[in-house]
Amino acid sequence: MCGISGVVLETGQVGPILYDSLKRLEYRGYDSVGEAAVVDGRLLVKKDQGKIDEVERELRISELDGIVGIGHTRWATHGAPSRENAHPHTDCKGTVAVVHNGIIENFMQLKQELEATGHEFRSRTDTEIVAHLVEENLKRRIGFVEAVRDAAKRLSGAYALALICTAEPDKIVCVRKESPLVIGSGVGANYLASDIPAFLPWTKQALFLEDDEMAVLTSKGVRLLKVESGEEVLRKPFTVEWSVETATKSGFPYFMLKEIDEQPNSVRNALRTDPIYLDLMASAISRAKRVFLLACGTSYHACLAATYAFANLAKVEITPVVASEFLDGYAALIDHDTVVLTVSQSGETADTLTAVRGAKDRGATVLGVTNVMGSTLTRLSDVYIGQNSGPEMGVAATKTFTAQVSVLIKIAVALAQKRKTLSEKELQVLQSGFDRLPEWLSMTLLAQKENVRRIVEKYADRISFCFLGRGISVATALEGRLKLLELSYLPAIAYPAGESKHGFISVVEDGYPVIFVAPNDEAYSKVIGNVMEMKARHAQVIGIVERDDGQVASLSDETIIMPAGIPSSLTPIVFVLPLQLFAYYMAVRKGYNPDFPRNLAKSVTVH
Ligand code: F6R
Repeated sequence: MCGISGVVLETGQVGPILYDSLKRLEYRGYDSVGEAAVVDGRLLVKKDQGKIDEVERELRISELDGIVGIGHTRWATHGAPSRENAHPHTDCKGTVAVVHNGIIENFMQLKQELEATGHEFRSRTDTEIVAHLVEENLKRRIGFVEAVRDAAKRLSGAYALALICTAEPDKIVCVRKESPLVIGSGVGANYLASDIPAFLPWTKQALFLEDDEMAVLTSKGVRLLKVESGEEVLRKPFTVEWSVETATKSGFPYFMLKEIDEQPNSVRNALRTDPIYLDLMASAISRAKRVFLLACGTSYHACLAATYAFANLAKVEITPVVASEFLDGYAALIDHDTVVLTVSQSGETADTLTAVRGAKDRGATVLGVTNVMGSTLTRLSDVYIGQNSGPEMGVAATKTFTAQVSVLIKIAVALAQKRKTLSEKELQVLQSGFDRLPEWLSMTLLAQKENVRRIVEKYADRISFCFLGRGISVATALEGRLKLLELSYLPAIAYPAGESKHGFISVVEDGYPVIFVAPNDEAYSKVIGNVMEMKARHAQVIGIVERDDGQVASLSDETIIMPAGIPSSLTPIVFVLPLQLFAYYMAVRKGYNPDFPRNLAKSVTVH
């Protein structure tokens, strides 16, 4: 996710301000940190891998001189955490420095073009090309602002960029597309940052940059421009009423709710996965004799959803295994023809890593999907993909689950393309499904928050809940159960709906709440029968159904209406949202802190 900040002062020193603002942005990333300023006509850059306080101890970033400076705290996407890959990045001559939050999709093509004209690159990041593009543009003597504007026109992807230049040392130029960027307007000083808390101690006057806009900050003022036309934009700052604490959570009472709300964006970022890595993974899987999907907890549920997609889209059988069971259950089957596709948000879960090491020792190929570049899983993997969710502060996984499922389904589709198991038409439907996911997620959040809160209020005194689904929705039901029990400490149950009549049904009595995950997919007609079985035992049914649903909705006591037309393989990504909200509101209703459930840690590094 990364955090960027910048400050232009009339007099004083940027170091203390940048350091302080980066500390407040640390929740956006914390694997590397850096600052740059123009001092005596030269660029001074201090940066390294490590948390802000570690880098501060080593480099004294809070003592950086100069009156114009930019800073960055990194959450790696392209290139592992290292000094070279830490921001700011500079051009060949050391005259332009840039910090970036986002992903530049066409960086490879631009890098090759710039290398052909003699530019030399020092990092493996997508960001560095921006410094070189601006350097190239400056050769045309068009001035710093125009050089940045021209460079921005060539970028595709998502970016909040801030740049400084020795040729015009009185200003910062910044640009925004899809990644957040907010300007703080002070007296004799102006600020920019990924988020408001970064500059709240110095000014409460803020204005947001919109997509495809840029800003020029000097100590005297802020000028906004449209990137495409260069036309001036007039926008007045507003007064921020939040405290620093509230602002860090963007006004949300808990990180969990903020992270649930971020999902339209975090899923969009997850879907930006480089096709080269998808293809590498698809090739490894298609060559293998045996493929396992390994993970723990929520990540395991993502694997379970993916298993259905691999079978149905790519016609490949993959065995999902809870990582702690893997070596006891399957060691005898692992050899050089085995692939283990391993999923871990943290990349550090002990049970997962033990399984991976055991598989490696027996000659298996390891593929990794993780949110933490530079984690142990990335080092153990032959190929890995970053899920680009940014740090997740709430202990319960929310946005990282939907990102994992998104990446895994992308791998399944890449494999289906390789194996030619889907028609052009089917591929198009899936592609348009990927494209519409952020919109479906936003619609669901908008339409269902209040409804879910109302349902929680009504059922808050129940001592147990059951979650049922069929097909790919079994994974969604299991994840809904896990969220509820870990946050509300309620003994909840989840089953494949068809299996419920083989035992669970004896628990059902008058008023017992059963939540059905019932998208309108291949399994739907059978789900109707299962709902009827529950109703016949006087269960109270909460149906999570599509907008155009008929029977399940009419049989339900409560309905949660979801967008219609989501391709079956993508339904867990959207249908899990009301279940996350259900668990969140239930925890808050019971007076528990959903960010810190008891006895749980974000990263479980013990067996
Ligand atoms: C539940 C949760 C855990 C993790 C599990 C695996 O909300 O967060 O179940 O999913 O501990 O963690 P990672 O994905 O880091 O390996």
